[in-house]
Amino acid sequence: MEPALSRLSGGFATRAVRGAVQLPEVSERPVSAPIWLSSTWGVTRSEELGELLTDRRDGYVYGRYDNPTATTLHAVVASLHEAEAAWSLASGTAALHATLDVLRGSGRVLATSLLYGGTWALLRRLERDAGWKVDHAPLVTVDDLDAALTPEHTVVHVETVANPATVVCDLPAIAARCRERGVELVVDNTFASPYLCRPTTLGAAAVVESATKFLGGHGDVVAGVVAGDRTLVERVRTHAFELGASLGAFEAWLVLRGIQTLALRVRAATANADACARELVAASTAGGDVEVVRYPGLADHAQHALATQLFEGRGYGAQLSFELPSRTAAAAFADACRVFVRASSLGGTHSLVLHPASTSHRQLDDVALAAAGLGPGTVRLSLGIEDEADLLADLDRGLAASRQVVATEATPTMDPPIAETT
Ligand SMILES: Cc1ncc(COP(=O)(O)O)c(C=O)c1O
Repeated sequence: MEPALSRLSGGFATRAVRGAVQLPEVSERPVSAPIWLSSTWGVTRSEELGELLTDRRDGYVYGRYDNPTATTLHAVVASLHEAEAAWSLASGTAALHATLDVLRGSGRVLATSLLYGGTWALLRRLERDAGWKVDHAPLVTVDDLDAALTPEHTVVHVETVANPATVVCDLPAIAARCRERGVELVVDNTFASPYLCRPTTLGAAAVVESATKFLGGHGDVVAGVVAGDRTLVERVRTHAFELGASLGAFEAWLVLRGIQTLALRVRAATANADACARELVAASTAGGDVEVVRYPGLADHAQHALATQLFEGRGYGAQLSFELPSRTAAAAFADACRVFVRASSLGGTHSLVLHPASTSHRQLDDVALAAAGLGPGTVRLSLGIEDEADLLADLDRGLAASRQVVATEATPTMDPPIAETT
């Protein structure tokens, strides 16, 4: 039997309003966290509100500050990252903004140039409109860091795996140097997820992830998380509620649901990525049109050994990229896919195919593309958890379509016959 609730008193409208928030006592533990869809919380004595608002007591007062569903998310993210604490925000971009702002103080930001495009846009806007000082350098090794770091820098920002060239950052060495130099290291770990890499255990001050990707994992939520020490997370919390970037309870719940299968999904997606990378290498060595395959799991990848150590042998991630001979060949590959969805993002159950030159990087000419580590024929694959055989069949379909385009482009155009004059 369900527990009885007390009988309501008052007029019709009053009973409708007050009755809708009567909560049953639940002494059994649910197996799914409740979604606390409340934007405000009542207290017994009015002075308690002031105490809650000024953090003189723990509890809930207003949804932009704290929410119990988010509290559950914070605890599990902190645990998975083996960090003291964690916080959630409305997107990965909001999480990055808050973390860099809190850690930079009045100093300069040194960010890798192998950067997600949205982070480029964020940093450019902050330079233009908010007076931030930002420098970029390709920060892959500690030598790269030494060449770029100056005493004015207070925070360094890198990505564990940079897209789409799948460049793996030497986090242990870079974190150690940042500590020596008294600079805060922020790592965007979106491409790895805590299943493969936990940067704060390597010495980073903060790890940031777009939970839109692996943590959420089902393509149904936009969210971001930050993990680090308690002081940093408290400052990020204040930043988030003052700038209005807090995560809603329903979104927090979706990420919580996704996190439960994170390990299974990353293992499946990583195995699919490995199989696709090997299929593409086989196509290239058999004389096909595939020119370069970039995947950290391949022995000839520049950071293969580093990735093996960094990801503790748990796999090499779910992203890879490869080169086809031309823009049109790459577009034909993407258009021929039936299982890979032509879409941006990554880290979900669906496999995605992206032709950066005509989509995410469409504004760049071939020279600018090369500077970003891309070619006109670069194709990016983000693997999901479908059956390997179906994905490999899609690769074959895509490569056949690309071959046709290459053959057409290679056919010499005939001069029009010269009309005979009589
Ligand atoms: C590496 C990386 N960092 C950050 C973000 C931004 O995340 P969000 O879209 O949740 O703001 C993305 C989004 O694609 C990303 O790929």
